[in-house]
Order: sequence, then structure tokens, then C-alpha cells
Amino acid sequence: MKVTEDINQIRQIRWTDPMASWGFVPTMGYLHEGHLSLVRRAKAENERTAVSIYVNPTQFAPHEDLSSYPRDLARDLALLEVEGVNLVFTPSDAVMYPPGFQTMVTVAELSRPLEGSSRPTHFQGVATIVAKLFHIIQPTRAYFGQKDAQQAVVLRQMVRDLNFNVEMVICPIVREADGLALSSRNKYLTPEQRQAATVLSRALNRAKNAYANGERDGRILRRIMRETITAEPLARLDYVSAADPATLQELKEVKEGVLLSTAVFFGKTRLIDNILIV
Ligand code: PAF
Repeated sequence: MKVTEDINQIRQIRWTDPMASWGFVPTMGYLHEGHLSLVRRAKAENERTAVSIYVNPTQFAPHEDLSSYPRDLARDLALLEVEGVNLVFTPSDAVMYPPGFQTMVTVAELSRPLEGSSRPTHFQGVATIVAKLFHIIQPTRAYFGQKDAQQAVVLRQMVRDLNFNVEMVICPIVREADGLALSSRNKYLTPEQRQAATVLSRALNRAKNAYANGERDGRILRRIMRETITAEPLARLDYVSAADPATLQELKEVKEGVLLSTAVFFGKTRLIDNILIV
């Protein structure tokens, strides 16, 4: 497994065998089973696999958790070695954002609702870094988790709009036995908050069950999620949503599928989760 922060070395390795297919998993490190499920899928579907580990400053707002974001590079590399990854890109800020850097990628409409209303600059940072990583790695396929549902929609749009020659593969959410979606931020939760955090998947599943029983009113689906979450004393609701999976606009009436999603604070830790019904 080659580990490097050098863009020229990445390109050299990437193009030693130009006909080989490359699967790419971009990450911010502190890897868990969710990331490893993406790596395994990338390995299964490609001849070579590349992973990037980079905590991207431009997708964090000044008041967010950039400096405290969990990091453990040695452990991450050991896990990737076991998975048989070929190439790991571990750039520094100086490599990704050298002095004078000034070009950002904006996916205008899709970045505004949901996460965008609480984190207005987040997706510009995500789209910019992923565009750069795609240019550097030039993968055949790129693997992202459905956990970040809006990120997947925004990045698909970017790939379409900017003609990236990359197949986007969105993989299912990996959950703990009690339903909590895996996230590097789960590490911040106290034992009490960790227990309370199952409220996200409980709320989503209640709305999903209502849908299965014929409920098609978006306001009622949102109310079911809101009532479940606000009944949990340790939870502070950011948003609940029952939106069109393609446009991310809130639905009055569900006709052809719905993205149920929520963001909830436990103390300073903000968790997101979703269920996609198509
Ligand atoms: O999903 C993430 O971990 C990040 O947003 C990504 C795609 C690695 C970009 O920094």
C-alpha cells in the first residue's frame, strides 16, 4: 500500500497501468465500518483502490468542529492495509489549498435546503475538495455513503454539470445494532447521549411505517418525526424533512418517493440520518 501526500506521485502510480479501473473512496479519516464498507465495494468492483484521508477545512464553518474533528492516521492506515487498498492520499492543507488559492465549486440550488440552511457554506467546500480529488486521482468509480444523502445529490449534480468522467456509486448506510447510523462524530457523545441518539432512526422509521401504511401527506410525515425527536429530552431538533429525492424540495404530497431526513443536536454534537423511499 503506497501512502503519499504528493500529487505527482499519485499521478505516477495512477497512470502506471492506464487500462486498470480505479475505485476511489474520499474520506476525512477516523474510519469506521461505514467507510470500510465503501472500500470493500470499491475493491470488489475495480482492479485498484485508492482512498483519500483529508479533513477539509473549507467544508467547516468557523464555529464548527474542524480543530476537534477526530483524527487517527496510524489506525486508519492499518485498517486500509488490512483491506488491501493500493493507494492512500494524505495531503496537507498546504498541498490542497496553497497560498493564493481562490477557485471554489458551487452547486447552487441543491446546496441550499436541508443541511445547507444550517450550514450555508458546507457544500461549496465539499464540491470544491471532491472536484480537486477527482482531478488528482481520476478514478473510474467513486464511492460515497447514503448517510450524507444531500452530499450524494449535490456531487452527482456536479459530476453531471462539469462532465467528470466518473461513475458515482452511493452505498447503503451502516448502522449499529440499535439503529444508530455510524459516524465519526458518534465518538463525541456521552453514554447518555449515545443512548438518546437512537431517536434519529426511531423517528425516521416511524415516518417510514406511516408511509408503508398509506400516509402520503408530507406535513404529517414531518410531524411524526418532529414529535418523536422533541419527546427525547437530550435531543435538540435542527430539522426534519420529507423531500423530493431529486430536487430536495419539501413535499406537500408524496407521489414518487421521498427522502426522509433529520439533523439533531446532542449537546454540541450534531448528527444526521435519513431513509430514502423510492
Ligand atoms: O463525506 C465526507 O467524509 C466528506 O464530505 C468528503 C466527501 C470526504 C469531502 O471532504
